[in-house]
Amino acid sequence: PFAPTSEDKFTFGLWTVGWQGRDPFGDATRPALDPVESVHRLAELGAHGVTFHDDDLIPFGSTDTEREAHVKRFRQALEATGMKVPMATTNLFTHPVFKDGAFTANDRDIRRYALRKTMRNIDLAAELGASVYVAWGGREGAESGAAKDVRAALERLKEAFDVLAEYVTEQRYGLRFALEPKPNEPRGDILLPTVGHALAFIEKLERPELFGVNPEVGHEQMAGLNFAHGIAQALWAGKLFHIDLNGQSGIKYDQDLRFGAGDLRSAFWLVDLLESAGYEGPRHFDFKPPRTEDFDGVWASAAGCMRNYLILREKARAFRADPEVQEALRASRLDQLAAPTLAPGETPAALRADRDAFEEFGVEAAGRRGLAFERLDQLALDHLLGVR
Ligand code: GCO
Ligand code: MN
Ligand code: MN
Ligand code: MN
Repeated sequence: PFAPTSEDKFTFGLWTVGWQGRDPFGDATRPALDPVESVHRLAELGAHGVTFHDDDLIPFGSTDTEREAHVKRFRQALEATGMKVPMATTNLFTHPVFKDGAFTANDRDIRRYALRKTMRNIDLAAELGASVYVAWGGREGAESGAAKDVRAALERLKEAFDVLAEYVTEQRYGLRFALEPKPNEPRGDILLPTVGHALAFIEKLERPELFGVNPEVGHEQMAGLNFAHGIAQALWAGKLFHIDLNGQSGIKYDQDLRFGAGDLRSAFWLVDLLESAGYEGPRHFDFKPPRTEDFDGVWASAAGCMRNYLILREKARAFRADPEVQEALRASRLDQLAAPTLAPGETPAALRADRDAFEEFGVEAAGRRGLAFERLDQLALDHLLGVR
């Protein structure tokens, strides 16, 4: 049981299993991993596909001939395994040229270069059949106040996405963009720090329909936010274009733990939400196998991401199907929350005329009613702990 298949739509960034363990305090603990090997290993583990940054696949600075050779080998691995590439993205953060950002760098020539680098990889993404293009602006931000005029930077960010949207429309690529929020790291403060900021920003773009979000578990949790609530709002807005699953323990540096590690209760509610909302996109893992691990540990970590998702999916289904839970949900009046507050066709004047709603309302008795949330939550915990 809990063996993933391609239908589960699990995908992995090449940069996740390929992470060499370099951190601000220490050197790499693992050698580089050939993307072709990652494709084969992940396929054997039951994944559906892989995703990539341009530089994960084609080392920065490669010549055109080298570039073609890298793409060719990768394509062959995809064909041999049946692995898909549902998403791609741009590395706009590693090279020193991006130290002050890419689309919002103070230097105009760097912004133009960043757009060209992105357009080039969009061409490749479309060629490989991707339908989502992720934009994580890790370097779009600042460490100090006067260094960044944030209103001007947001204007430049809008300009960049408007240009890219025009480009994919013109090319008829059928790609949509997913903006990935993060509050900080590597910049002291990053623009579009949370899902809420990103959703509001999208509405200012020229083609908002082409833009959604790619929220990452740990990134919202770094800001102390409830991830499932952010995802629910993105779903409600029709903007959950993609998702980055991983684990995080509280407000600290970006841990990128395997999915299910860190805040397990939050992971349970997330899977419950994705499954009951009928989210159809890939379940994409963006994690970092800890630098303590050798390659056996890397593959164990990747397998653990999928296994934990499938276990939580089974637990969430059992929770929803449990007659006692359904009764507890009614006792907590979730059915009432689903019903509109005004009757069909009822006007504000009609509401004002309804004496039961105010003058005759038993406000004291209503204030004494319990919500029975504790029993409901304990049922969830019993399911999660495997005792029901
Ligand atoms: C992070 C980010 C990045 C981006 C990825 C796509 O952990 O800070 O998730 O990993 O998702 O690089 O650009
Ligand atoms: Mn992260
Ligand atoms: Mn991510
Ligand atoms: Mn990441």
